[in-house]
Parts: sequence; C-alpha cells; structure tokens
Amino acid sequence: MENEFKYEDYKKTAEWLLSHTELRPQIAVICGSGLGGLANRVTQRQAFDYTEIPNFPQSTVPGHAGRLVFGYLNDKCCVMMQGRFHMYEGYPLWKVAFPVRVFQLMHVHTLIVTNAAGGLNPEYEVGDIMLIRDHINLPGLCGQNPLRGANEDRFGVRFPPMSDAYDRILRQKAHGVWKQMDQERPLHEGTYVMVGGPNYETIAECRFLQRMGADAVGMSTVPEVIVARHCGLRVFGFSLITNKSILDYETHETANHEEVLMAGHQAAKKLEQFVCILVESMPPPLEKTF
Ligand code: HPA
Repeated sequence: MENEFKYEDYKKTAEWLLSHTELRPQIAVICGSGLGGLANRVTQRQAFDYTEIPNFPQSTVPGHAGRLVFGYLNDKCCVMMQGRFHMYEGYPLWKVAFPVRVFQLMHVHTLIVTNAAGGLNPEYEVGDIMLIRDHINLPGLCGQNPLRGANEDRFGVRFPPMSDAYDRILRQKAHGVWKQMDQERPLHEGTYVMVGGPNYETIAECRFLQRMGADAVGMSTVPEVIVARHCGLRVFGFSLITNKSILDYETHETANHEEVLMAGHQAAKKLEQFVCILVESMPPPLEKTF
C-alpha cells in the first residue's frame, strides 16, 4: 500500500507533459462525477488521454472520461482532470493522488477540487453547492492515508498541518462571486467526509456521519487535498449535492449512481459558470507557509 513511485517517477511524468505542450498551467482543476464539462470551456485546448501519459493510473468509472485537458479559462492557464481515481476502484491512495504531485512539479500553485456528494445537512437540496470549509478523512482515521510510508522531503514535511487546508481567502472570494451571480439558492459552506465506497451509506451510517459534524459525504477528494497541502499547493473546493442522504427509516428512496449523474448534469451549467468566474478573478497565492 506504500508508495512505489520515487520522486524521479513523478518528475518523469511532469517532464513528459511539459515537453508535449507549450501551455504552462498555474491552476489545476479536478472535475468530479458529471462535472467534466468545464474542460470543454477552455480555449487553446490540448488534451491527453490518461492511457498515453507515462505512469498515469487509468480511470474505470462511467461518467469519468480519463483525460487531462490543458487550456485557458479567460487569461488563466489551467490543467483539468476529466475523471479522477477512487479508492473503491482498488487504487492505493498514493496512486489516487498521483497527478497532484505531477501538477506541483509543473509549477501549478492552486488546486481546485470538485465532487458529487450526498447532502447530510437537512438544509441542503439536490443541485446545491457546498464550499468545502473542512474535511473528515474517515479512511485516514483508520490508517488509510496517501502519505503513509517514507516521507519524500522534496515534496513536504513528515507531519503536515491540515487545519488550514481549504484557503480562507478563496472561500471569501467565492461568496462574493456567488452574490454577484444572483442565485436563488444559498452557497453553503461545510464539512465533507470521505468514505471508501463503492456502496452508498446505510441509514445508520448517514446518522453517524451527520453526528460527527459532516454536512456532505462522498468517496473522493480528501486524498488529493492531503497530498496537495503536503506539497504546498493552495487548495479550494466544492461539492455538488446530487442527492439527499437518507436519515430516517420512513423513507423508501435509495441513492443511485444515475441520480447522482443526472443531478450533476442539470446543475453543471451553474457550476461551470461559477468556477469560470472564480478562476478568472483568482488572486495569486501568498507565500508558502511551510
Ligand atoms: N454517498 C457517497 N458518495 C456520494 C453520494 C452519497 O450519497 N452522492 C454522491 N457521491
């Protein structure tokens, strides 16, 4: 389960990409389930299938294309993952987060993570967006951490802090952008909990997660964020609420992947527009703090 790749393996992938495109992205975006449409909005688009990139893991989930897309959103050069890797596909977590270190070696300074999530907070409706203020790394609390094993000091410190993982300035900015967009629904801000999946949660599990302090639940994002913070990237993210978690035994509905993809599809335009404006108005990062 421990990282089989050396620093040089990440370097090889970064150098391969830099030698196959002239674009020099500063912002990376990981597109969650049904949210890959953002990558079609870029100009000067240049795309690579994961299959052609040395050392890159391959994606297996329907709704996740498996493509790395370079291009501009307004004047900002971006690289976007259309399709990510999940623990439930059988990948060790260091592999799930492999692209993040490659981005850092390509001099990306900011990572934007997006995902589809179940709404545990009863105020959340399907189609709502939650800015991620904090996370609970449920697999991590049981020892499943992408940083497990020998530390690579060239990426970061052995014991990185996580109390400041989601950038406060960018979160404030997002609220300002949301106000300007004049949306009916509020922009939520809350805690994302990662579970291993692939099954959706039982009612008892949803109740447990809610009582733990989580507002939304999903099967991704946290490994990438941990690795990004470890190597000094600025991180910002949001969840699209694609279904309401089932919290009472009277309900006869169940969560399913089609519902998740459908909600992602319907809210995609709003989301894409939101991310575009955010990227456009994104300030440069402050100095690295560790
Ligand atoms: N649980 C876990 N992951 C999810 C959910 C959910 O309800 N919805 C979308 N991804």
